Amino acid sequence: MTDKPVKVLFVCLGNICRSPSAEAVFIEKVKAAGLSDRFEIDSAGILSVHAGEPADARMRKHATARGYKLESRSRPVTPRDFFDFDYIIGMDHANIRDLLDRAPDKQSQAKISLFLSFAPHLDREEVPDPYYGGAAGFEEVLDLCEEASEKLLAALQHEC
Ligand code: 4NP
Repeated sequence: MTDKPVKVLFVCLGNICRSPSAEAVFIEKVKAAGLSDRFEIDSAGILSVHAGEPADARMRKHATARGYKLESRSRPVTPRDFFDFDYIIGMDHANIRDLLDRAPDKQSQAKISLFLSFAPHLDREEVPDPYYGGAAGFEEVLDLCEEASEKLLAALQHEC
C-alpha cells in the first residue's frame, strides 16, 4: 500500500461513447469496493473534435438505465497525461497505435494497454465503436466495460 492514488486514464477515439462509459463503470466498481480514495480515474480521446461536449446522448441513455452517470466532458489526450497517469487504457487496437505514437518515451509507452486484455476470458480484444450503429452496440459497450472493469480492479487492487 502506498499513499499515492493509482491513476487510470481510459481512452477511445472521440471520448464521447466508450471511454466515458469505461470511466463511469470503473468509478462504480471502485466505489463498491470502498476504494474511491485510492484511485484517480479520468478519460480522454484521440480526437479533439468533440472537446467540451458531454458524452453522446445515446450512450448516456443506455448507461443511465444501468445506473451509471456519464458526467465527463470530452477532452483530447495531452502529452502531460503520459506522465500523470499510471495506466493508459485504450478501447481498440487503433487507439493503442495512436497512443504509442504519441507517447514521449518508453516509460510512457509501457503504461499503455488494451482494456480487454484485463479480461482474457471474454476472448475479445476490442470494445467496438458504437457511434455509427444501433442500440445493441451501446449495450455491448456497457457489457464489456462491466466485465473488464471488474478484472481491471482485481488486477490493480494489490497496488492500493
Ligand atoms: P468513441 O466513439 O470513440 O467511443 O467516443 C466515437 C465518437 C465519435 C467519433 C468516432 C467514434 N467521431 O468520429 O466523431
